[in-house]
Amino acid sequence: MPRSVLLGTGSALPATRVTNDDLAARLDTSDAWIRERTGIVARRIADASTTTADLATEAAAAALAAAGLPPQAIDLVLVATATPDLTFPATAVRVQARLGIAGGPAFDVAAVCSGFVYALGVADSMLRAGQATRALVIGAETFSRLLDWEDRSTAVLFGDGAGAVVLERRDPPEADDVRAARGLLAIRLHADGRHEGLLHVDGGPGSTGTVGKLRMAGREVFRHAVHNLASVCHEVLEETGLPIAAIDWVVPHQANLRIIEATARKLGLPMERVVVTVHEHANTSAASIPLALDAAVRDGRIREGQLCLLEAMGGGFTWGAALLRV
Ligand code: ACO
Repeated sequence: MPRSVLLGTGSALPATRVTNDDLAARLDTSDAWIRERTGIVARRIADASTTTADLATEAAAAALAAAGLPPQAIDLVLVATATPDLTFPATAVRVQARLGIAGGPAFDVAAVCSGFVYALGVADSMLRAGQATRALVIGAETFSRLLDWEDRSTAVLFGDGAGAVVLERRDPPEADDVRAARGLLAIRLHADGRHEGLLHVDGGPGSTGTVGKLRMAGREVFRHAVHNLASVCHEVLEETGLPIAAIDWVVPHQANLRIIEATARKLGLPMERVVVTVHEHANTSAASIPLALDAAVRDGRIREGQLCLLEAMGGGFTWGAALLRV
């Protein structure tokens, strides 16, 4: 059975770094409150002329360079985003054009903070079904544009950025244990729309005709997140028969350090094996996992052959996990 193998990672961050103290100068909040409740120290915010497609294209180019491939090698482009440049065409189509390629499918995946894991699932299915050979899977957001900058309970939590991976369809080597071969070993996705009211944006082209602002009941979201994340992580492990101890790295969605720690604790994984970037990136929604993955690949923590558990939960609710042997 063919599988999707990771060939390269890349990322892009806007230049402007906004610290908690910067926010405290204009909102009734403090560095101490934000650090203690979330682990966040700073976030990057895109300037007015930078769009999601700009960040996505930069991350994609970096992933292609890491893979040693020209854009022409790609025949599927997916962008996971909740902040597309336009209502249509999809941001993925804009990225495809900027990379100088055309013809293969390109579309956006909307699953908010779980968007990257959802897009991995879609790409993996299409690659394994023979509908594409090499995919760019990108998570990219200018999430700052959805924030109510008067609402201290949400404005301090998010940031902008993009991350990308290149996946290639390959036949696994004839190994005794296919779990030892590189590639996506398992992926599970879930959604439950009954909780829309706990985390949503209060506008859209088909309802208000506006973009809307993010609204969240933080405490409730926290509770659901830890439960759902731990449960879906167990599912992918059970599917492969691999024990928790086999995981080299967890690359979680970077929403909040307390959610990351509580989930790791529930899984029985030490924090030394968890990649954390939330302190510098804050929550970049669909971009957070590929941003964290790229950071840990580039600094040499994540190495070829290691087993990574990717997990995310976000608005919808949506949630999912993937087991990837890098
Ligand atoms: N600065 C100072 N005080 C604040 C701030 C702020 N930025 N925001 C809220 N407060 C105040 C509240 O007004 C409240 O004051 P009160 O007691 O006088 O009413 C007090 O702090 C406590 O507020 P809570 O919302 O109950 O604080 P909590 O301990 O739950 O922490 C937080 C809030 C950080 C949002 C937490 O609930 C959380 O992390 N939730 C997870 C949400 C999340 O990360 N979502 C991301 C999207 S979903 C996902 O990616 C998983």
